[in-house]
Amino acid sequence: MEKTSRIPGFYKLPIPERVKIVKEFANLSDEDVELLTKASSLDLEIADKMIENVIGTFPMAFGIATNFLINGKDYLVPMVIEESSVVAAASNAAKWCRAGGGITSIATESIMMSQIQLTKVKDPYSAKVKILEHKDELLKIANEQDPILVKLGGGAKDLEVRVINSAVGPMVITHLVVDVKDAMGANAVNTMAEAVAPYIEEITGGKVYLRIITNLADKRLVRARCRVPKDVIGGEEVVDGVVIAWAFADADPYRAATHNKGIMNGVDAVVIATGNDWRAVEAGAHAYAARFGIYKPLSVWEKDENGDLVGTLEMPLAIGIIGGAVRVHPLAQLSLKILGVKTAKELAEIIGAVGLAQNLAALRALATEGIQKGHMKLHARNIAIMAGAKGEMVDKVAEIMIKNRKIRFDYAQEVIEKLKRGEPIE
Ligand code: MEV
Repeated sequence: MEKTSRIPGFYKLPIPERVKIVKEFANLSDEDVELLTKASSLDLEIADKMIENVIGTFPMAFGIATNFLINGKDYLVPMVIEESSVVAAASNAAKWCRAGGGITSIATESIMMSQIQLTKVKDPYSAKVKILEHKDELLKIANEQDPILVKLGGGAKDLEVRVINSAVGPMVITHLVVDVKDAMGANAVNTMAEAVAPYIEEITGGKVYLRIITNLADKRLVRARCRVPKDVIGGEEVVDGVVIAWAFADADPYRAATHNKGIMNGVDAVVIATGNDWRAVEAGAHAYAARFGIYKPLSVWEKDENGDLVGTLEMPLAIGIIGGAVRVHPLAQLSLKILGVKTAKELAEIIGAVGLAQNLAALRALATEGIQKGHMKLHARNIAIMAGAKGEMVDKVAEIMIKNRKIRFDYAQEVIEKLKRGEPIE
């Protein structure tokens, strides 16, 4: 049978049923399932090797977004996040995009850059050209640091050199342009930058200080696109509402920050689930959003000639599927298994698509009923569960609390008792 991520009512199922579906979809083993559901899937011993001064571990909720059809392939998307509504919103928006043929997403090659900061040169423009004259030797030194990456077709490919003016005088900044393939790449590019720095000093007679990656990974971009038929999201008026919401973000950095936060809700949740460095992704996203000197939304929403909604997103995404926490955290490995991704490029394409869908869900809610209604529904369900509701009673108690505008623990308990006794509730 064809695998599909379109699973109506997934959210209503008990956890073991959901796990069973994901197990079948992703061919998980019994050990994988045990890892997913046990209280702590990160052994203290592994944690102790990941960071310093470890005293414990910090579990988060691990959810699955359904309905994603990306580049013609079905994905169940692991999301780790503390905020309610995000997983549900992503799944809903993925369903709308699916009705328009799914999301198309394409990532560039995994090109990262490190910066080498040269100072104390009297003739910075001449230093710039001298560095470029030695490009071949510099790339050779860089590539000697990572023969495996080079064997895989990656490695340092180019040099870019700029003269910048700073508060302490001119500086000559060399960018080492490196194809890091399936890695996030920070270690590779930092090692290369440190290795070439002495040679740059020798060529120019200057002094190198910083040798470090730039998180403005503007050569490692993902571009996602979707079309949502107008009827699927409530008609042309809703399409207009989403476009107007985007225009607000495009015209106002105060709104653009929140608009992009909505995108990052989806992006970060998958970045975290796959053990990637979400601060690097965040830094890249916001720097890219401000690259023209004014902070802009990372997505664009338009209405096409049929009156349907079309959305595009473009942002840097420095993520990997090898190395670091991705390799050592067992749940990061499991997330990759659920996604079935084989390359960092494919993972970036999925994450870009999730960011676009997340943005759509937020804008549609904001342009129509507002986001509180959805939030309140989930909040009410949580309160009902905390008050002891089980199974079908959870939704019933939540509905009554919302209807009576009393979303409180004590009221939930009262409703549960009344329902159990079969008493009427106004
Ligand atoms: C909340 O986490 C995210 C939103 O504020 C995003 C947005 O305003 O577009 C709903």
